[in-house]
Amino acid sequence: MKRLGIFGTSGFAREVGDIAVELGYQPIYIARDQSEQDAWPFPGEVILESQVNDYRDIGFTIGIGENVIRQKIAKRFAGQLSFINLLHPSATFGQNQRRSIEAKQGIIVCAGVRFTNNIQVGDFGVFNLNATIGHDVIVSDFVNLAPGAHISGNVHIGARCWIGTGAAINQGNGNTKLHIGEDTVIGSGSVVVKACEPNSVYVGIPAKRIK
Ligand SMILES: CC(C)(COP(=O)(O)OP(=O)(O)OC[C@H]1O[C@@H](n2cnc3c(N)ncnc32)[C@H](O)[C@@H]1OP(=O)(O)O)[C@@H](O)C(=O)NCCC(=O)NCCS
Repeated sequence: MKRLGIFGTSGFAREVGDIAVELGYQPIYIARDQSEQDAWPFPGEVILESQVNDYRDIGFTIGIGENVIRQKIAKRFAGQLSFINLLHPSATFGQNQRRSIEAKQGIIVCAGVRFTNNIQVGDFGVFNLNATIGHDVIVSDFVNLAPGAHISGNVHIGARCWIGTGAAINQGNGNTKLHIGEDTVIGSGSVVVKACEPNSVYVGIPAKRIK
């Protein structure tokens, strides 16, 4: 059985492990330090981050939802480890879409995610359960779409944005995509009807900036 290194030992890392198993991999979880390794109460091998160089012949993914941490790990091991894409078999893809996602690295697509077509996806994005991504959307690097987030067509999501569970982003148009500035968080259940500033937090219906 092929092995897959999964950075992280949180609940999300285990969910990523489920996808790995579904795809025929044997997960090896990677703890940051000894205390994290000791705290792991589940079946499955856990190694320390300091040991990953002994595993360079296998693929890796980063099972950590926090975008900035995912980015730090990706940078720390850039050029040393091979970060594969994990696409759950139940995800669906519009015409040519799957190929363009498979050309990226470190992407995690959970069960039930739906991509339509002409979507540009950056590296190391997390597309959690049942998220939907409409036509002509741009999703930059290190974005996290939480479960059931719905991104309408012609939206541009900046780097490291977090779109909360069940949030909806209304559509932009062909000339002007609705832009969510980088490092912005959209609260769970919110409905975004217009562009959002970078480094901000928006909540509610319609979503308003609170931070
Ligand atoms: C938006 C969010 C990040 C704000 O967290 P925070 O910065 O700690 O903010 P607070 O909890 O202090 O809330 C600030 C205010 O916004 C309100 N608020 C927070 N989240 C909200 C939401 N999703 N919708 C509507 N209002 C919300 C709070 O009620 C509070 O209002 P008040 O000032 O009138 O009391 C967080 O609430 C959230 O929704 N996170 C996403 C969770 C998620 O999707 N997880 C996915 C796991 S896979």
